[in-house]
Amino acid sequence: MNALDTLQYRTSSPRLMDPAPTHEQLDHLFKAAVRAADHGLLRPWRFLTIRGQARSLLGELLVSAARQENSDFSAAQAEKLAGKPHRAPLIIVTIASPKPHPKVPEFEQALSAAAATQNMINAAFALGLGAMWRTGAPAYQRIVNQGLGLDENEKIIGFLYLGTKTGAEKPKPDADYSGLVHEWGEVG
Ligand SMILES: Cc1cc2nc3c(=O)[nH]c(=O)nc-3n(C[C@H](O)[C@H](O)[C@H](O)COP(=O)(O)O)c2cc1C
Repeated sequence: MNALDTLQYRTSSPRLMDPAPTHEQLDHLFKAAVRAADHGLLRPWRFLTIRGQARSLLGELLVSAARQENSDFSAAQAEKLAGKPHRAPLIIVTIASPKPHPKVPEFEQALSAAAATQNMINAAFALGLGAMWRTGAPAYQRIVNQGLGLDENEKIIGFLYLGTKTGAEKPKPDADYSGLVHEWGEVG
């Protein structure tokens, strides 16, 4: 797929199945990630891959976090939440990992981590893989962050669910940007 088609027509795939991306496909994704715009070339991001039984460990973390926030969390809710990481054969967790810098605020470094994530979903689409960027409450829960080994200053930017597309193909997205773009500073 050519680059402009990828950028203009990418869609997310909420329904994913085996097989997971191959080693070679993942290599393309990470090479795309590290080409994100990056003020000061700080590489203020890192990535975790979670697959196989490790997805159940993540599910347990999600349930622990939800139980801590809501003591009425039912067994049925726990079972549903525990199954969420199994919605795809592979999850990449993008982590903003800011580096101290006199000119590059942490906010910009988090933006760069988001750009790296977007590069990965674009690369996935170009390769014909299914991808879905998710966050939800778990991205912000202390138990989840600690369980995944984040430092205090790090943030989860996304859980990138990856696999083989299943279900109906989404229609081509509407690329209409009228109303979003205005010429500023015109005189007369
Ligand atoms: C930071 C971020 C977090 C997101 N979290 C979720 C999420 O938790 N659940 C969800 O259904 N979609 C989430 N989305 C949106 C989807 O990834 C997707 O972009 C959206 O469903 C629109 O589909 P499209 O990408 O095909 O246009 C998130 C997007 C971003 C940028």
